[in-house]
Parts: sequence; C-alpha cells; structure tokens
Amino acid sequence: MLYTGKGGVGKTTTAAAASVCAARRGRRTLVVSADAAHSLGDVLGDRLGATPVEVESGLDALELDARVETRRHWGRVQEFLRSLFRHQGIESVVADELAMLPGAEEFATLLAVEQYARGGTYDLIVVDCAPSDATLRLATLPEVLHGMARLALPALRALAGVSAPILQRLVSAPLPASGVFADVESLLYDKLAGLRRRISDPTTSVRLVVTPERMVIDEARRTYTELALFEVPCDAVVMNRTLTREAGREPFFSDWMRVQERHLREVKSAFAPLPVLTSPLQREEVVGVDRLARLGERIFADHEPDAVLCGGSRVRFERDGMDYVVRLPLPGARAEALDVAKLDGNLVVTTRARRRALKLPRSIAQLALLQARVDDAVLIVRFGVLRGAAAEST
Ligand SMILES: Nc1ncnc2c1ncn2[C@@H]1O[C@H](COP(=O)(O)OP(=O)(O)OP(=O)(O)O)[C@@H](O)[C@H]1O
Ligand SMILES: [Mg+2]
Repeated sequence: MLYTGKGGVGKTTTAAAASVCAARRGRRTLVVSADAAHSLGDVLGDRLGATPVEVESGLDALELDARVETRRHWGRVQEFLRSLFRHQGIESVVADELAMLPGAEEFATLLAVEQYARGGTYDLIVVDCAPSDATLRLATLPEVLHGMARLALPALRALAGVSAPILQRLVSAPLPASGVFADVESLLYDKLAGLRRRISDPTTSVRLVVTPERMVIDEARRTYTELALFEVPCDAVVMNRTLTREAGREPFFSDWMRVQERHLREVKSAFAPLPVLTSPLQREEVVGVDRLARLGERIFADHEPDAVLCGGSRVRFERDGMDYVVRLPLPGARAEALDVAKLDGNLVVTTRARRRALKLPRSIAQLALLQARVDDAVLIVRFGVLRGAAAEST
C-alpha cells in the first residue's frame, strides 16, 4: 500500500497510523519510508535505518537510503558512465552528477520494497512516499523503463556479443568492464518484469491522502488521472485533518466546517467509486505508536488497513463488428487536455505532464485510428480500416 499526496498533508502520519493499526490487528507489517526527507522515525519515535527495526510486536520499520540502494544496483553502470564522461574531459564533479541516471533512485527504491514483498516475512508492506510527483515517477517507472528497454536491449545484446578488442578499435572511449552489460540487462529485463508484475498485482494499491483544501484536492485529482493512465490502481482517498463536530461548534471554526463539508462531498463524487476515509484533526501532534494506534482505529473503523477497498480497472481491447475498440479508464480526464495518437504500433496518450505508449495487439496495430473520445471517465479509441475519401487520401 503506497500512501501519497501533496507535501505536508499527512502522508507519513497516515501511513504510520495504518501500519500500527494493521500490526495491532495481527498483520505482520513493514512500514517503509521512501521519501528522502525521512520523518517516519520521528513519527514512530524510533531511530530507523536501512534495515528493518522492530518498533513493536508485529511492526517493523525502515528508512530506505536511495543512494545506497542505487549504488547497490547501478554501481558498475555508474562507474562506467563516470569514466566515460571523464574521458570526454568532463570535470569529475559534473561526471558524478551525470552518472546519476534519471529514475535510478526510484528504481532502486522499488527493487528494495520488492525484495521484502517477495521475502514473505510480512502480510502488509506500507510505503510512505514522497509528494505526488515523485510517487508518479516511482509507480509509473516500471512501465516507462519497459518501453525504453524494448528499444535498448537488442542494441545492448549485440554490443555485448562483440569482442572487446574489436570494439575498442572502433571507439576511442573507454569500454564498460565486463559485467556492465549483464548488469543492465538483468536490471532492465528480469527485475523490471518483477516490478511490473508487482505494480499490477491486485494486492498493490495507492492511497491518496488529502486535506479539505482546494489546492490539495486538485493535485490529488491530477495524480489519480495520471496513475490511471499507467493502470496503477488507487483504492481509497484518506481525508486528513477533518474537524470533528465538537470542534466545528466553536464559532471560529464554523466557516471551516462548512468548507470542509463541501470539499468532502466534492471528493466523494470526484473520486467515486473510491471510498473516502476520514482522519480527524487531533488535539496534538500525532507522534508515538499509541497516538498513531488511536488515529489508525478512527481511520480504519470500518475497514481493514491491508484490504484493497476498490478494484482497479484496466485497459480493455474489444472487437466491435469490423472495428476494434480500446477502453482505458481515465477518471478525471478532460478530452481537450488529452492528446491521442497511433505511433509505431503503440497507442500514445499524452496528458498535461505524462505520456504513455501502450503497445497495441497485432490485430489492432495494423488498423487506423478512427476516433478517440472520453465517455464517462473512460478514454475510448476506435480502430478500423479507413473507408471512402479518407482511405484514398492516405
Ligand atoms: N490528523 C492530524 N491531526 C493532527 N496533526 C496531524 C494530523 N495529521 C498530520 N498531523 C501533523 O501534521 C504534520 C505533518 O504531517 P506529516 O509529516 O505526516 O505530513 P507529510 O504529508 O508526510 O509531509 P511531507 O510532505 O513533508 O512528507 C505533523 O506534525 C503531524 O503530526
Ligand atoms: Mg512525510
């Protein structure tokens, strides 16, 4: 279960409360901080490190050090890149910077979480993510990398097969040490396949944490759409810092109470069918396992913290007479803000900030894109044979 949302909304608190609650209800739980600005240890009131520490019976916690994980997985690759950049006369500081591959930290974080998920020691793994944009990068990375690997792997395999002396005659730059190709191949091929399976596993889900505030809700709506674009499932929204009726009776808070009720109604309809759990504003900061447990019991009064509360819907390919129709659920998407095209056998969908290339089955890849529209939160793209004037002009 990955908890995300805008900065400061209460992701760490909610993730920690869910974890303590799950552990006290008998689930062997691991809570992982994947946000480089770790505050999970402060919230739990424990010193955490890069390996799991027992916080209380049934609950372990750890703060991943993305740089250490990156070195562990990409070490040889980075070393090669550094030597390549230095050879080109690039200063060593800059070479170090360049050797930080984009997405490498997110990739390493996912690999570490995956390792615990496979280990079978835990019933539930809760991930306290960095704010929304980083979570999007994290959750969509396996899919994005898969697209890149499809292009890069054949070239890589061919290069790996050429003997070093021959290659060295062709290029003057330093060659990667033996093993670099194998490292890249194993990361991009075997491990990536495992991560893609994990992200699309029906027990994996993202939870969006919001507060009753306009900007926070708007950002969560965009995150929800963009996660859906990559078929990363969300199963619940947690509205944090809601005022209790008791607090709402204070004259100072009466306007806030009305605003909150309006936002709550809006969130319920904008994120339907996701359930909206509420996490009341506490009288004091929520630190230490006992306060977290109390908050967790409020949030999960009617649910289990490890249960997926709403099934994600995936892309469907359907035949319709002579045509094929692709249906991609895209909650919150507006047709005018989407760009849809067919490119090299892929359906390419672009939103405000993200693009997904969805590989089309062969039967559809040879057809033309006839029409794209958004209907009831689903992007519907029709493929078929061009007829009449359109066919003649192509
Ligand atoms: N329901 C609540 N009642 C009272 N205080 C809360 C509640 N939820 C969070 N807080 C407090 O708000 C502060 C920020 O919460 P938290 O660190 O969980 O947010 P975050 O979204 O993880 O922030 P960041 O984006 O920095 O990681 C903390 O001091 C926390 O104790
Ligand atoms: Mg946090």
